[in-house]
Amino acid sequence: MRLLVTGAAGFIGSHFVRHALAQPGVESIVVLDALRYSGNLSTMSDFRDQVIFVHGEIQDADLVGKALRDHGTTHLVNFAAESHNDRSLLSNSHFVQTNTFGVQVLLDETRKNGLERMLQVSTDEVYGSIDDGEFTEESPLQPNTPYSASKAGGELLCRAHWVSFRTPVVVTRGGNTYGAFHYPEKLIPFFLVRLLQGKKVPLYGEGSQVREWINVRDHAAGVWAVLTKGENGQVYNVGDTNERPNREVVSFLLAELGLDDSLVKCIPDPRKGAHDTRYSMATSKVRSLGWEPQVPFDEGLRQTVHWFRDNEAWWRPIVEDADYKSFVEGFYGPSLGDDL
Ligand code: TYD
Repeated sequence: MRLLVTGAAGFIGSHFVRHALAQPGVESIVVLDALRYSGNLSTMSDFRDQVIFVHGEIQDADLVGKALRDHGTTHLVNFAAESHNDRSLLSNSHFVQTNTFGVQVLLDETRKNGLERMLQVSTDEVYGSIDDGEFTEESPLQPNTPYSASKAGGELLCRAHWVSFRTPVVVTRGGNTYGAFHYPEKLIPFFLVRLLQGKKVPLYGEGSQVREWINVRDHAAGVWAVLTKGENGQVYNVGDTNERPNREVVSFLLAELGLDDSLVKCIPDPRKGAHDTRYSMATSKVRSLGWEPQVPFDEGLRQTVHWFRDNEAWWRPIVEDADYKSFVEGFYGPSLGDDL
């Protein structure tokens, strides 16, 4: 197998490359990444010399086609995405450009270049919110934010290219993912880097929303299972059964760092109507491929806390970057500074 992995200078993509490098039968890995704000070469430093790196956007058909042909690619896995809901509430054209149009380019290039398979990494958020029970792969898509709608658009193109052209494509829908190298804007890494700096953390509302968490190493292994054993034209939920209200996750982080609740500030929910109350997925389909999550939530979260505590050299340049500061101030308001 000769792989091209997009977005592998980011969080889940980099873990997927680490996983793939340890598998038999992988002859070469090309990483294609635009190095936008959440992609960093420092995230790839442990495997940089084992992959071929191509800098560019997935929307660039000429560049993608050339990278596929130059390296005799057989399998393409797409992790490249704009992925933060809160950013999509501020402005969303980049989301559609990357998550929808970019996927169409990859599908076209997969077909034109005769690849054996493309895998599109998607999200449980395409289903919208569920109060009781679980989403199955047959549940309707009812995305509630510009981010999740743009991911749903990408997925629908996968379905259409399979039906129209028999482009060999599979889709995974991952749960909320946590672990090392997570860009510090989502709940867990954002709160960790703030707590490690002695800053307060902004919990939306009362923190009652429920997310289903999966360790990034399990997520990467699930994508590998679908890539190697899944069926073309199919969708696979990749989740674990760790449903937790946000406030419980935050209490765990505080306890692990030896801190108390005084660092938590409940703020009016900035997502308003777009805040999904609960995610939960049935995962029997991916389990039928022989995949099982391996990392218990408490153990994985503890390891993540320790990783952030021990790897300030990775996150410090990110939180001091002008783009990062301007997003945090722009979204949460200047009061997030010292006062919050
Ligand atoms: P997030 O990590 O952004 O993932 P997603 O929106 O994809 O689920 O958010 C997870 C939950 O944490 C969500 O209910 C919103 C909440 N949250 C906060 O309370 N405060 C924050 O600063 C952030 C980023 C998220």
